[in-house]
Amino acid sequence: MYAQMIQSTGKGVKSLDEMDPTERAFQERIDAGGKIEPKDWMPAGYRKNLIRQIGQHAHSEIIGQLPEGNWITRAPTLERKAILLAKVQDEAGHGLYLYCAAETLGITRDEMFEALNEGRMKYSSIFNYPTLTWADMGAVGWLVDGAAIMNQVPLQRTSYGPYARAMVRICKEESFHQRQGFDIMMKMCAGSEAQKRMAQDALNRFWYPSLMMFGPSDAESVHSAQSMAWKIKMNTNDELRQKFVDQTVPQAEYLGLTVPDETIKWNDEKGGYDFAEPDWTEFYDVLAGNGPCNHDRLETRKQAWDDGAWVREGMLAHAAKKRTAKVAAE
Ligand code: ACO
Repeated sequence: MYAQMIQSTGKGVKSLDEMDPTERAFQERIDAGGKIEPKDWMPAGYRKNLIRQIGQHAHSEIIGQLPEGNWITRAPTLERKAILLAKVQDEAGHGLYLYCAAETLGITRDEMFEALNEGRMKYSSIFNYPTLTWADMGAVGWLVDGAAIMNQVPLQRTSYGPYARAMVRICKEESFHQRQGFDIMMKMCAGSEAQKRMAQDALNRFWYPSLMMFGPSDAESVHSAQSMAWKIKMNTNDELRQKFVDQTVPQAEYLGLTVPDETIKWNDEKGGYDFAEPDWTEFYDVLAGNGPCNHDRLETRKQAWDDGAWVREGMLAHAAKKRTAKVAAE
């Protein structure tokens, strides 16, 4: 299952004329805005691509708890601690909805965890960067959750029913997360010179990694063409990156911060900002496991998996005991 799951779908998208009648009916249903449900027929590639994307998304939510969890005990006030705790708990919930959605496609949660732990499934590159100061909690909420929303709001209309429905709830919570991050940034930027410097430093470190969250440029994207034809993705990587920059630059100006890109400039003709591309060599290096925190993040996940073995074993033993008792009573 894994070997299948991580194969790339490739860029070649069949036209309706090239499809057999079943595939064609499936595609026409998607083109007409219909939803695909777990028991419906679907092409093997559609299933495989969804498992890949939803699984990666679920892992990102779970691993995404780590950089922020790092600050729960060090939040500057009780109120900030309660807010951060709630946010990190929300991310766990998002991971669980998404694992459930992926399970409807015929993969088990254990298989997904094993694939993650063995490096056969990815999670978002952004979570391989460290959170060094309290201002990073602001930058993560503002930029990382801001980028996540930009990507995820359109996914509420994705063609696969369980994924689309999971996204509705996730997006409501993500927008609260984005605002709490911006609120931290507003406080820091209205504070002392040292606090403002800390906010600027957080923006400097998180700007390009946030742009990388949208994936490689459209020319380099492996899955976009087929994923968009199947409405597994609703926009290309570059479209969403542009929207994110257009939304975020004025917010940085409002905060009195400088986006760390000297080339950034409003372009009247395209109705958006021109901006510098992230360093794609760094992106692929992080994907290959060489980011600043890749090792720590995966080790922490593996440790959590091993530490939880007694809970899983206990629950399975309890379920088996209940089954036996039920059979004996019949
Ligand atoms: N981090 C890690 N891997 C990435 C990233 C990233 N930021 N962007 C792209 N990739 C990987 C893809 O998974 C793919 O590798 P694979 O074939 O081994 O799976 C490869 O790079 C090529 O990229 P694309 O062909 O462009 O991949 P795709 O069409 O899947 O687009 C995207 C990537 C935009 C992340 C898409 O999968 C998506 O929209 N996912 C749902 C949202 C999501 O997962 N968000 C996670 C972060 S948000 C959060 O957790 C708070």
